Amino acid sequence: MKRLTAVLLVLFVALSLFAEGGQQRAGGKTVIGIAMPETHVERWVKDGNQLKAEAEKRGYTGLVQWANADQPTQNQQIAGFLTQGAKALIVGNINDGVVSAVADANREKALIVAYDRIIQGTHDYGYFITFNNYKVGTLQGQSIVAGLNLDAATTAAPKHITLFAGSPTDANANFFFQGAMDVLLPYINKGVLSVVGPFPKHYSEPAFAQIATENWQAPIAKARMEALLVGDARNVTLDAVLAPNDTLARAILEACKADSKYQAKLPVTSGQDAEFDSAVSIKNGEQYSTVFKDTAKLAEAAIILADQLLKGQAVNVPGTVIADGDLKQIGFTGTGYVTTLLLDPILVTKDNIQVPVTAGFYTDAQAAQLK
Ligand code: BGC
Repeated sequence: MKRLTAVLLVLFVALSLFAEGGQQRAGGKTVIGIAMPETHVERWVKDGNQLKAEAEKRGYTGLVQWANADQPTQNQQIAGFLTQGAKALIVGNINDGVVSAVADANREKALIVAYDRIIQGTHDYGYFITFNNYKVGTLQGQSIVAGLNLDAATTAAPKHITLFAGSPTDANANFFFQGAMDVLLPYINKGVLSVVGPFPKHYSEPAFAQIATENWQAPIAKARMEALLVGDARNVTLDAVLAPNDTLARAILEACKADSKYQAKLPVTSGQDAEFDSAVSIKNGEQYSTVFKDTAKLAEAAIILADQLLKGQAVNVPGTVIADGDLKQIGFTGTGYVTTLLLDPILVTKDNIQVPVTAGFYTDAQAAQLK
């Protein structure tokens, strides 16, 4: 009889663990699912690995997957995390096709943090954590003003710029562009800076579609630049290119390098992410600037946020500010606002290329090459 009771007890415990939806796997640790959008932009590989490490440092099981810039793939990965009992999801989404996965997670009572990119089309999730993306754009614009010395430029000899933007599916691309345009427009209006090719003044204008780069794909930006060089820019020499990130900046510069007109001097080209190859390019005087977003800090902050939410604690994440005033727009999903935490981006040119190095952003071998 005693034996039967013991067997039943074991069976009962086993069944109740099963009913927990697998939450008790991996030694009883709570699972955090980490859904990253892509690997063709370097940062996301680091982001995913860092999020996992930060989760495990705090006693969670971190599961991470990358979705190859394909939302149905990411939705399947999120479904997989839920099956494995994830109680929190950190999602860097690809497009608003993610909304159905958010609904599934809500049904399973898993909390969702939108990571770096806002989830559009629903505000039925907890938090959004990102950088001040508008400031990223203003820094890009300011670097072009400095690189072209636009304050000394004249209407008699205006400088020429062409514009590129990020993915039309990624709201960050809108803020990057608008931040940059708010800095550049006064010079354009003064007649000392002239735009070659499509010229949207705002991301909501139809011409934005012509400068946008679907899914941030470098081959698309390169092909567009090649076409521009023999098209709209045929009879001018471009002094600058507004490029939204490093992956696209290098693709655009490759197209320029193949054109004899730019052998002696490449256009002043902005970027973002402080990718190692761009840091080298900046050091060598090719790409002009990048914007350093310390994604290790973002990953740490996102896990601290998830940890506080999972424990029902008040949210208080060091190194972040809650988006307020005009910046509240960064947390607008199209249907409503989500509470948005912002980290601060830093402009990097040849003069301060050591900033990401000192922050420990590169491997030792890479850092040695930037000395
Ligand atoms: C990120 C950038 C990144 C881009 C392409 C954006 O949402 O904020 O850091 O370069 O996506 O992956």
